Amino acid sequence: MIPVPLPRITQFEKLAYGLFLHWGLYSQLGVGEWTMFHHSIPSSEYAKLKDSFTAKDFDARTLARFARESGFRYITLTTRHHDGFSLYDTRGLDDYDAPHSPAGRDLIAEFVDACRAEGIVPFFYHTTLDWRWQSQCCSDAKFSEYLDYLNASVEILCTHYGKIGGLWFDGNWSRPGANWQENRLYSMIRRLQPKAMIINNTGLSARGEAGHPELDSVTFEQGLPKPPDREGWPKYLAGEMCETINRHWGTALRDFNHKSVAQLIENLCACRKAGANYLLNVGLSAQGGVPELESAILKTVGQWINLSGDLIYRGKPHIARGPKRDFVLEMDGRLYYFAHDVRRRGNDHVVQDAGGETLRTIYGLDRPIQSVQWLDEPGQLRFAQCENFAAVEFLGYPYGRDLAVRIAELI
Ligand code: GLC
Repeated sequence: MIPVPLPRITQFEKLAYGLFLHWGLYSQLGVGEWTMFHHSIPSSEYAKLKDSFTAKDFDARTLARFARESGFRYITLTTRHHDGFSLYDTRGLDDYDAPHSPAGRDLIAEFVDACRAEGIVPFFYHTTLDWRWQSQCCSDAKFSEYLDYLNASVEILCTHYGKIGGLWFDGNWSRPGANWQENRLYSMIRRLQPKAMIINNTGLSARGEAGHPELDSVTFEQGLPKPPDREGWPKYLAGEMCETINRHWGTALRDFNHKSVAQLIENLCACRKAGANYLLNVGLSAQGGVPELESAILKTVGQWINLSGDLIYRGKPHIARGPKRDFVLEMDGRLYYFAHDVRRRGNDHVVQDAGGETLRTIYGLDRPIQSVQWLDEPGQLRFAQCENFAAVEFLGYPYGRDLAVRIAELI
């Protein structure tokens, strides 16, 4: 038996594509978010970055609009990362937060308001690993004091910002055997934000692993999701892959490894093939702007998403499958075939490496097909069906087009 998903989990799966944003004091250094740890910068030294944190380029409304126009349905923002600095008002817990910096604003309040105005669902990333406490957390008493602080912090996020899409924790992997008092944290969230997803990143070494029973999704950090085998699970869990656009989460000015538009489209497809969400990360600039290159790349991916309307969000994995990476989604009772590496037409003077097989066999069809048609071009493709499989002649693109992944409806 496959368990039935709870409504919040069904809703989450339909959000499909999220923008992950890493932003904090570290962004001013432009060398990723782990620099305090990697360079053993003492807390007191590192904390000086607060004095130059102005957030002058953080315009939450522009950011949320950009996300919506690029096809994202949710944003997961780092409200606090491992360096311990909070973008929200910690209301007296400490003064290591944005309102006590030259920014002087509660940036999370701006974020949630802007998301709501643009129809984007706000999610809060919150670290559980805090480097300022870590060195002292060897004793149980200190760790428990830290957990009080963590709980009080999360309580603030659950009470002062209206309804949120979910909380996304990260850092339990830093103390695998420790008692993180997850029951306490999650029951508080359930009480204050009953509809919020609770996610806790299992990190690079434990992708796809289920954890505490209150968690609503498994995570695949930097690794393509496998379709979960939910048979016999006590609860239906969603899946989400988070991935960097280059190789860092926090902005890294000397990282030139940006994924191409085609790669991002393919990765989004790989997630949806497995029924998982794709949470794609951008490191905001020092004072909170969206970098130009990332912005251009994501807008272009958004154009691809737009070509097939709601399909990327509401399409569910179907049992039918094609060769290699090809797959089928079902939406509103209709089937859609996602074809990779489609041939490009044109003569030898201009077309190199024309692409993959024209003739492809689709297995596992559960219904007779009347016609096959590309979504981006009129006309019907030739095919022959025999019981549950069909051979389709996927004629290539006309010269002048290449969508990276091309979709055909099986009517
Ligand atoms: C890792 C890193 C962290 C990053 C996170 C995003 O856990 O420690 O810096 O925020 O991945 O998934």
